[in-house]
Amino acid sequence: MSQARSKTTPAQITEAVVASFDSCADLRLRELMQGLVAHLHAFATDVSLTESEWRSMIAVLTDTGNITDEKRQEFILWSDTLGLSMLVDALAHELPAGATESTVLGPFYVPGSPPREYGESMEVEPGTGQPAWVHGRVVSIDGDPIAGAELDIWQNGEDMLYAVQRPHAPEGHLRGRYRTRPDGSYAFVAVRPVPYPIPDDGPVGTMLAATGRHPWRPAHMHMIVRAPGYRTVTTHIFDAESEHLDSDTVFAVKPSLVRSFEQRSASDAGRPAGIEGEWVSLVTDIVLARGENDGGVLDPGRTA
Ligand code: BEZ
Ligand code: FE
Repeated sequence: MSQARSKTTPAQITEAVVASFDSCADLRLRELMQGLVAHLHAFATDVSLTESEWRSMIAVLTDTGNITDEKRQEFILWSDTLGLSMLVDALAHELPAGATESTVLGPFYVPGSPPREYGESMEVEPGTGQPAWVHGRVVSIDGDPIAGAELDIWQNGEDMLYAVQRPHAPEGHLRGRYRTRPDGSYAFVAVRPVPYPIPDDGPVGTMLAATGRHPWRPAHMHMIVRAPGYRTVTTHIFDAESEHLDSDTVFAVKPSLVRSFEQRSASDAGRPAGIEGEWVSLVTDIVLARGENDGGVLDPGRTA
C-alpha cells in the first residue's frame, strides 16, 4: 500500500536551510547565515521570483565579478547605489550629537597623500578649477581645539575626475594631508568641486539606466579626519549650490554636511597668497567625538 505524503511547501524549504546552520559553532556566523537565508528566501517568496529573473540575477553577479579587479570594485558600487554602504556606516559609526557626521569613503581614496603645510594648495596642475580657500578648526564636542589633527583630503577638478582616474595626472594632484595648528586651525587651497557620475559602464550603470535612476553625485570634497584619542571621521563637505543634492546616487548627503561657498572677487583684500582672479571661500569646523577607532574598512586609519 502506497503511503500518501503531503506536498513539500516553500516555507519548509526555507526552514530546512535555516536549520542546516543550527549547529554552527561560531554563533555570529550562525546568526549571519540564518538571517541571510531567511531574508533571501522571503525576498524570493514576496516578489514571486521567476526562474528567468533568478537566472538574470546570476548573470548580473557574474558580470559584476568579471568587471571587478584591483582598480574597479563593482560589488562596492552595488553596495553604494543600494544604500547599503551608508546603512553599514550609520550602524558602525553612531556618533554623539554635535559630532561631524560620517559618510561614504568612495573608490577614489588613495592612502599616502602628500603632507602639506597650513594654507598650501592641493592643485599640482594649475587651472583645474575655481580656486577655493577652505579653512576652520578641528574641535572636540566641548569646543576644545584639537592640535595636530590630520585632515586627509581628496577631490575632483572641473573635468569631473579625481587624479587617480587619470593615468597621467600628477600623483598628488587635488589631494593632501594637513595638520591642525596649536589652536586647532587648518586651511588649504582647493578648487571648487563639481558634480560627477559614478562609473556607469558596468552592471551597476545598467541597473541605474533600467530603473530610471541617474549616476550623478553632487559636488563635494572628501576628508578623513584623525586625531589621537578621538574617533576618526570619514566625511564630505557638500556644495550647497550643487545639482543632485536631493538625489545623490549613493545616498551619501546628510544635511549637516552641506556648506555654502562664498563668491570673492580678485580685488578682495582677504585673498590668500597663491590665488589669482575670482575665488570662493568656505569656513567649516570639524567636530570630533572622543573615543577609540574600530579599524574597519571605512576607517582606513592613520596613513602617516
Ligand atoms: C565618491 O564620492 O568618490 C564615490 C562614492 C561612492 C561611489 C562612487 C564614488
Ligand atoms: Fe567623490
